[in-house]
Amino acid sequence: MNIAIVGCGYVGLVTGACLADFGHNVVCIDRDAERIANLTNSKIPIFEPGLEELVATNVGAEQLRFTTDLKAALEDAEVVFIAVGTPRREMDGHADLSHVYGAAREIGKSLRRYCVVVTKSTVPVGTADEIERIITECAPPDGFSVASNPEFLREGAAIRDFKFPDRIVVGASDARARDVMNEVYRPLFINAAPMMFTDRRTAELIKYAANAFLATKITFINEIADLCEAVGADVQSVARGMGLDNRIGTKFLHAGPGYGGSCFPKDTLALVKSGQDQGAPQRIVEAVVQINDQRKRAMARRVIAACGNSVRGKKIGILGLTFKPNTDDIRDAPAIAIVNSLLDAGAKITAYDPHGMAAFKELFPDITYGHDAYQCADGASALVIVTEWEGFRALNLKRIRPTMDEPLIVDLRNIYPPTVVAQHGFRYVSVGRGTKN
Ligand code: UDX
Repeated sequence: MNIAIVGCGYVGLVTGACLADFGHNVVCIDRDAERIANLTNSKIPIFEPGLEELVATNVGAEQLRFTTDLKAALEDAEVVFIAVGTPRREMDGHADLSHVYGAAREIGKSLRRYCVVVTKSTVPVGTADEIERIITECAPPDGFSVASNPEFLREGAAIRDFKFPDRIVVGASDARARDVMNEVYRPLFINAAPMMFTDRRTAELIKYAANAFLATKITFINEIADLCEAVGADVQSVARGMGLDNRIGTKFLHAGPGYGGSCFPKDTLALVKSGQDQGAPQRIVEAVVQINDQRKRAMARRVIAACGNSVRGKKIGILGLTFKPNTDDIRDAPAIAIVNSLLDAGAKITAYDPHGMAAFKELFPDITYGHDAYQCADGASALVIVTEWEGFRALNLKRIRPTMDEPLIVDLRNIYPPTVVAQHGFRYVSVGRGTKN
């Protein structure tokens, strides 16, 4: 099939490269001419494992191409995905849909044959209806359909999530659109991917409800971790004991410094706003948003407390700046709130992250960036593990111990067994295992 993707960001690029890899003929469109030029030479603007190779392979096979010319790209398109950003609107927390509606208008003016217009971006309930109104005003000659096809991609695992999804959700208002979407995803049927057809509004809400539930699950175990510290229980064992109940499941029950990223913070807030607007307040999600924001700041207080209630003039080593491993994305990362609070308390920060330092430097140009974990530990009063990168899981503790001013490790991701760290002569603070300090 001939497929067009508007938006060459994280979602658009992964979607386009995977659909091309299925054998579809894909063109990805973006306004940013420099980004398009780089992509045409298979230079990827984001770090996503496997994406650079997938793009290069499919550009080489002439299954995938990039352009700034939307009109030309739509000439023979049978499907066009809208995969532009829907960032949080700073003033009120609603999703900013200006890019989505702008793309819909341009598509409406460019369509010359029947086409299914699909929202892949995460959009509030009712957006597809508004897109239909916008395109109808442009009166494309051969008609069109609008469908909703939310993505469920995790950064760092996006290609696998696309090719082996737990489900494909399609909200469509007519049989013709359903037939076209079946054809788009037919190659996935070999992976036994269940395809679920709903109406558009239901599909749009499934995305928000799924993300908000995952964020709620994380926040639940984070609060249970606080209780574990108060009563001397072990949160990892509590999570395992809960998760062996297949109605609960073991995933997303890892206690930590709070969730970050480009989705959970934005989507939970957008759902809260939608609930308020629709007279159906989402009180649990309201609490999740508040608790998560407070938790990130509380983690800095935990470090300060572990340093004898003052970090003024002390060097603190920070390991991990991205919101999770295997990405370069620092959006809403816990490290941002933690570093801000520690700087406010007078600490001197040395930070290291395998892929997140370039982005972090734009926010914090004045802190020191190390070339590895050991440089962060050298002369530090505390070494704080904020993101659970593989490379932090087996540090040479014997080597680190004599280089630190104070032998203190604050492990916000519980990647070390407390006994092992203690055996190396460290004081060890983690999350939900033993007392806070
Ligand atoms: C999420 C959803 O998982 C995905 O389905 C959706 O399409 C986009 O949003 P992503 O934001 O990439 O994906 O990352 P995810 O792996 O879900 O982690 C989100 C945040 O939760 C990270 O900050 C992570 O550290 C945190 N997290 C995750 C926990 O603190 N504990 C957990 O058990 C799991």
